[in-house]
Amino acid sequence: MSTILITGGHSGIGLKCVRQLAAQGIDLVLAGRNPTHLELAASSIRSGAGVKVAIVEMDVSSLVSVRKGAAQCRQMIESGSISGLQAILCNAGATFRGDATYTEDGFELTFATNYLGHFLLVQLLIDSLEGDGRVVFTASGTHDPDTADGKFIGRAVRPDAFALAKTGLDGGKPLPGGTRYTTSKLCTVLHAYELDRRLKVAGLSISSIAYDPGAIAETGLLRDLPGPARALIGSPPVRWLMRRMGLTLGDLTQSGHALADLATGKDFGSGRYYQWKDGVLGETRSATMSYDEELAQALWRDSKTLAGVSPDEEPDCLK
Ligand SMILES: NC(=O)c1ccc[n+]([C@@H]2O[C@H](COP(=O)([O-])OP(=O)(O)OC[C@H]3O[C@@H](n4cnc5c(N)ncnc54)[C@H](OP(=O)(O)O)[C@@H]3O)[C@@H](O)[C@H]2O)c1
Repeated sequence: MSTILITGGHSGIGLKCVRQLAAQGIDLVLAGRNPTHLELAASSIRSGAGVKVAIVEMDVSSLVSVRKGAAQCRQMIESGSISGLQAILCNAGATFRGDATYTEDGFELTFATNYLGHFLLVQLLIDSLEGDGRVVFTASGTHDPDTADGKFIGRAVRPDAFALAKTGLDGGKPLPGGTRYTTSKLCTVLHAYELDRRLKVAGLSISSIAYDPGAIAETGLLRDLPGPARALIGSPPVRWLMRRMGLTLGDLTQSGHALADLATGKDFGSGRYYQWKDGVLGETRSATMSYDEELAQALWRDSKTLAGVSPDEEPDCLK
């Protein structure tokens, strides 16, 4: 028996993914910030598929909460109530329009939610993964400033972790919400690749993969838009137009199932970027900046400082 931990698995793409994993007989840990929502999803999966589904309260925008949630996962593994982890799916994410707002740790909310919390989670749980385990990061095609996806809501800027975390600024200029989102996703892809390189140097067979599910209007990601605007974005004429503009369109169910495939399938390489596009899950190039190893190393080093990863917490394999 194996277990997969996912953030944001009680809704949207994550929920489609976990239903597919449960149908394969895989036990689950759903991590999220609202226990009522988590339990609703968990109980419907348990009764439908007969697998174990544990829930862990975790607000990924809060370092304290990520630490508590990771400790709870470790305790469940040590007590034998769940098996060791086959995969960690860093899937939770959100967009925040308007002016930047800050978490209790003092970090810009988009950077903290989409990137920094998951960075810490991986540090804390990588050594709970099985030998051939996997980390999959739900990124976004919008991370690439040179594509239509990347230009659509605001081109990602070259990430400087301290500037992004502390001020949400780029060279003293406030970043709009779209750019904060796309830049946090660029950080996610850089993280996935740097993790892969470090795992390889350590001689481990754990894989690290980045994923773009494509644009999907029916999830909660656009929840702060008025209902009619969301319906319009999801309508066939607008989807046709978006495709004509060169945007990568996802499909809620199939993009969720593709995330499940990435978590368990055999044919996916570590340190790669996969995209769900036109009904096919395929490997593709990510942003030019995402291959910049110096940038990735600086982001890793600064993220460790920002997340307050202590020498005791730092896993040996990632030192
Ligand atoms: N939909 C798209 O077009 C699209 C395209 C590319 C990439 N993505 C990425 O796909 C992933 C899943 O998004 P989705 O489209 O399925 O939207 P969604 O339905 O809103 O799912 C996002 C999930 O993240 C969780 N989450 C948000 N903030 C959190 C926090 N601080 N702590 C813990 N959990 C938190 C949400 O939980 P709550 O219910 O508590 O808010 C929710 O379960 C995200 O990373 C998103 O960026 C989406």
